[in-house]
Amino acid sequence: MNLNIIPVKWSDEGVLMLDQRLLPTEEKWLTLRTYDEVAAGIKDMVVRGAPAIGVSAAYGIALGLNQFVGTDIADLEEELDYISDVIGRTRPTAVNLFWAIDRMKRTFAKAKAEGRTVSEIKQIMIADAKAIHDEDIESQRLIAKFGGELIDDNATVLTHCNAGALATGGVWGTALGVIRGAVDQGKKVSVIADETRPYLQGARLTAWELLQDDIPVTLITDNMSGHMMKRGEVQAVVVGSDRIAANGDVANKIGTYMVAVLARRHGIPFYVAAPLSTVDLNCPTGDDIPIEERDRREITHVKDIQLAPEGIGISNYAFDVTPNDLVTAIITEKGVARAPYTESLKAQFD
Ligand code: MRU
Repeated sequence: MNLNIIPVKWSDEGVLMLDQRLLPTEEKWLTLRTYDEVAAGIKDMVVRGAPAIGVSAAYGIALGLNQFVGTDIADLEEELDYISDVIGRTRPTAVNLFWAIDRMKRTFAKAKAEGRTVSEIKQIMIADAKAIHDEDIESQRLIAKFGGELIDDNATVLTHCNAGALATGGVWGTALGVIRGAVDQGKKVSVIADETRPYLQGARLTAWELLQDDIPVTLITDNMSGHMMKRGEVQAVVVGSDRIAANGDVANKIGTYMVAVLARRHGIPFYVAAPLSTVDLNCPTGDDIPIEERDRREITHVKDIQLAPEGIGISNYAFDVTPNDLVTAIITEKGVARAPYTESLKAQFD
């Protein structure tokens, strides 16, 4: 394994992002020089995946504040609120976005209470955004360690969407972190990647990522997983999450729920891997999680090729919610939580 994919970076020129819209055929880095450009990068899926969105949001805030001209703390705070609103309007489901905004606001409030100057606060905010990034990578490393222990030697693991290094601060990933963790522990593991219509994160990103780390991967269409489970070709399912409710209901990429139902039908463990920044204790159940709906063109077209006739109805829900009773375990940086999740998840915050 190379373990060297880091999709978002801070630099003196701005926030650097590997343009995930172009993978796997082109590896191009963009420099986003303003907070507006960072917000657009999140909205347009230059960067995507819940933890990566959180890290990017923190860098976007730090970047915007660093470009503030003036010496008045109240004006700087007004700017913080404005930037946070712009970034907070990009994607509604991944709670890591709001988690990162809240954390940056708390850091600002503390620095203000300490009587710091504008230029000191700018540096403190940059340092905290970098800390959010470092902590995220460390969380993925621990998820890999705890999750890797749940995977048997010679297992084939099915995953949906991309919950890898590309979807996080980098290096390990969450669901792919569990797989990398098992490989790191000396196990032989192969992966089945659902292509993940309509945005094809599985085909474009998961397949590319695993290839970088020499982990064997077989790509399937989303409608093949039931057949392969029935044939005994899948030993475990591992997915990431965009938001986990307090009761353990899991929002993740559209199609995850179907995979969870199939896994239960075939007696296959269904694991969710996510950092605690994805767990939203303020959201009692999955019914309270906002589900993003995206452009109809993602369904009707592949790039510029039209697949469906004009004039029809289109639904494009980007995420679904898997009820907690279908979840075998939730792996976080604190360990492995099992049902009843209301208690086990809360305990991880203590
Ligand atoms: O629309 P996306 O590509 O941002 O959706 C990503 C997912 O659903 C991932 O599975 C989730 O964010 C977990 S990433 C570690």
